[in-house]
Order: sequence, then structure tokens, then C-alpha cells
Amino acid sequence: MANISLEELPGVGPAISEKLRESGYKDIMAIAVASPKTLADECDIGEKKAQDIIEGAKMYADVGGFESGEDIMERRKLIKKLTTGSKAFDELMGGGLESQSIAEFYGEFGSCKTQVCFQLAVNATLPEEMGGLDSEVIMIDTENTFRPERIVQMSEHLGVDPVETLKKIHVARAFNSHHQILLVEKAGELAKEKKVKLLIVDSLTSHFRAEYVGRGTLAERQQVLNRHMHDLLEFATLNNALIAVTNQVSSKPDAFFGDPTRPIGGHIVGHTATFRVYLRKGKAGKRIARLVDSPNLPEGEAVFTITEDGIID
Ligand code: GTP
Ligand code: MG
Repeated sequence: MANISLEELPGVGPAISEKLRESGYKDIMAIAVASPKTLADECDIGEKKAQDIIEGAKMYADVGGFESGEDIMERRKLIKKLTTGSKAFDELMGGGLESQSIAEFYGEFGSCKTQVCFQLAVNATLPEEMGGLDSEVIMIDTENTFRPERIVQMSEHLGVDPVETLKKIHVARAFNSHHQILLVEKAGELAKEKKVKLLIVDSLTSHFRAEYVGRGTLAERQQVLNRHMHDLLEFATLNNALIAVTNQVSSKPDAFFGDPTRPIGGHIVGHTATFRVYLRKGKAGKRIARLVDSPNLPEGEAVFTITEDGIID
């Protein structure tokens, strides 16, 4: 992409560039793909002005071209698979979770979304022969539910040194949705120094849900969430990494997504996530994973068990 700053765009002076940055338009690309109406509303400028700025940005932004199917095939050859710890669950996912993709785990409280994240974090540090990614892990924790004790238990069960595992898992608390978005940027920086093949966001939507309350805020929430999802997808592509995110279901009818078993964030999250997995409780530590959406796998279910040792069949 042409390396020009916002101020170099025609019609953008210091005041407008500041408004743009404050509203989250940090680079030329973000502006080029914005709609004039939204940009005008968010930056408190006229719609005509917004249109001109967007036109200017389009001239400089590299919106990408078309890739041949062969190139995509080549890139897909680099895909690595990560084990969930359960054979049945792995089979459901076509042999494991894939790098270069976003896997969304959604379900009620206690459905094991966080436990799945812990297990994936531990597994990702394992060598590839053990179903791992031989990698370090970044975890964005929005609900303060990271428990090193669980990492220790799971590591011990797998016969790996718990301290070594803990060293490879980099956790950051996100205090609000804005912070959460910034942490993905930070994650990109860390991934330049370390081999990071797994990025976890647990939970993807809790801050958004808490901060954007009421019908009037929904469009904005969806827009910010959309941008966040695309940042995550970019991380996945650039680093040949897997992104695992969790999402709750709305227990009470949401202004928009009335169905109580629907994941928060609706279409925006759903269309960007590559694999969607619905988790629900069964009897006696059993959990049922249902593959709801995937580009190349059939829908289906797998049963696994959550124990002190982690996720097993
Ligand atoms: P929310 O974040 O509240 O929406 O829930 P969640 O889907 O993230 O649930 P989480 O992964 O925290 O799952 C909690 C479940 O895991 C509880 O039902 C616990 O019974 C189970 N669990 C957690 N630790 C252990 C453990 O050491 N042993 C066993 N057997 N179960 C555990
Ligand atoms: Mg949780």
C-alpha cells in the first residue's frame, strides 16, 4: 500500500485527520472501504466531504487484486492443523482446527468455551507430531478467566513441563472493546518476534455487548465488530495462524437477534468466522460440539468430556 499519511489525502487537514483517527480510521485502507454516510456521521463532517475523502483514499489504497486459484491452493498447502484433545472433536473439524482461519465457539455459560481455549493454548505449544503447532500463544482475556492452574493440570496430563508451557502463553486482559481491538494490533507486533500460530479472544463479544446497549447503538457495534473480525482474519493470514474466539448466546431477546440460542454479533461474526461451533452441556461432564458452519465440512456433532486433565474423548 502506498505509504502515505492521512494528512496527505486531498481535503484532509489536521482537524479532520484527528477526527478520522479518533473514529478509528487509522490508515488509508480503512477510509477507502468506508461508506460516505458512516464516515460523515462518525467524523461529524458533511457527506459530500466524506465522499471526496473516500475517493482520494481509493486512489492510494491497494484494495488488492485477484489471486489465481493456484496461488490460493499453494497458500492452503501451508495450513497446519491443531488438535482439540478429543479424537471425535478433531474428526468433526476435519482432522483438527485449521490455521489461516477463525474458529468461533459459542454457547451458554459453562458450556466449556473457556476450557476449550485453555486446551487449545496448551496443545498449540506441543510439537507437530503431537498434534500441536510448536508455537507460542496469545490470549486476549476479556472476562478475567485465565487460570494458569488449569494450564498446569493440562500440561501435566500431556507429560509436558507446565512451566515451559506457561512461558509460551502470553495473556493480556482487555478492559473494554477499544482496548481489545488495540491488543490485536499489539499481537501483530509480538508475532513479528515470536512464532505465534494461535491467537485466542475469550470472549470476543462480551465487551461489545456491555458497551453498546440499546437499539440505536446496534449499527455502530456491528461496524466496529466487523472491523475487529477483519483485523483478526488478517492476523490469521499473515501469520498462518489459527484464531479461536468465543461468543455467548443471548439469553434474553436482543433488540435485533431475538432468538435466545443465537450467538451475539449475529451475521457480522458469523460471516467472518470460518468455522462456527456450538457447544452445549450434556450429562456428567460431557459436552456436545456441533459444527454449524464450515466452508468445506458437513454439519455434525461430536461428544467430548471435560475433566481435570482437560478435554478428552
Ligand atoms: P462463560 O464464559 O461463563 O460463558 O462459560 P464457558 O463456556 O467459558 O465455560 P467454561 O469453559 O468456564 O466451563 C466451565 C465448566 O468446565 C464448568 O461446568 C466446570 O464444571 C468445567 N470445569 C472447569 N474446570 C474443571 C476441572 O478441573 N475439572 C472438571 N471436571 N471440570 C472442570
Ligand atoms: Mg468463559
